[in-house]
Amino acid sequence: MADITQFQDRMLSLGLARVSEAAALASARLIGRGDEKAADQAAVDAMRNQLNLLDINGVVVIGEGERDEAPMLYIGEEVGSGEGPSVDIALDPLEGTTLTAMDMPNALAVIAMAPRGSMLHAPDVYMEKLAIGPGFKRGLVTLEMTPAERVSKLASAKGCSTEDITVCVLDRPRHEEMITEIRTTGAAIRLITDGDVAGIIHCAEADQTGIDMYMGSGGAPEGVLAAAALKCMGGQMYGKLLFRNDDERGRAKKAGISNFDRVYTRDDMVTEDVIFAATGVTDGSILAGIKREPGYLTAETILMRSKTGSVRRMIYRNPVN
Ligand code: FBP
Repeated sequence: MADITQFQDRMLSLGLARVSEAAALASARLIGRGDEKAADQAAVDAMRNQLNLLDINGVVVIGEGERDEAPMLYIGEEVGSGEGPSVDIALDPLEGTTLTAMDMPNALAVIAMAPRGSMLHAPDVYMEKLAIGPGFKRGLVTLEMTPAERVSKLASAKGCSTEDITVCVLDRPRHEEMITEIRTTGAAIRLITDGDVAGIIHCAEADQTGIDMYMGSGGAPEGVLAAAALKCMGGQMYGKLLFRNDDERGRAKKAGISNFDRVYTRDDMVTEDVIFAATGVTDGSILAGIKREPGYLTAETILMRSKTGSVRRMIYRNPVN
């Protein structure tokens, strides 16, 4: 007899692609319109509507914020029809709100689903992140190493010069020192203004994106989404929560975290098999953005399952009135 669980898992994955597609398509009319909030709201509404059509008993663990801050897709919100497997949902209906409002590259609609209890409930604080692609020995680079050491370890493992390594970093004043140190190795730096989920995914397809390593701090919720993607594509990732004050420590406690110094690996952040879907909103190196032609919108989605390592790319042409 066919394995029912696997069958459902496969069918659910296709449903998940429709969820990220719906969010990306909904934000399309707001690309380049300078209104981050409106773009985000359109994506949130559409993602929630589509997610609630899925036959799952889902709980949002990475979402739009705490219940009192976000009316929709808040952490703890139950989603889906309630009929079906119990799952954790991590989502970002619009990863790169400013990128969308300014029509800059690599804005994505992103969602990941895994069995209940298998995703880190990352609070809305910063996370120190480090990622490389697949094919390297475990622990080749670590958060304990200096940025220069990481570059040199990766270059040795790749059998190339440090000058042939490209590191992706969020362009923020807090990263100035790290950037200066990376430059001493001769490595190139791809500075991005936003969107570190895409930044990290880039490492898994280094041949196509030209990015070998990601480092620096960004949102912890985005860290869990990136870990889900790398679990499907292969690659290593480390994350450590960063706290600036007691309020942030309180958020972590509320999320069930007691060890504030823990370094999470990719598989600590997502402990079981996961399905990941992302749809391009603006053009990027992983996915094309939404294209408008008279009468149509076209969206590109990447859909991945860690259980099989399958990576599916889908183009959806949607008639519009
Ligand atoms: P939004 O889509 O919520 O604007 O997040 C974009 C983003 O660049 C993330 O990719 C990243 O993790 C985070 O913001 C970085 O935060 P900050 O802008 O505070 O450095």
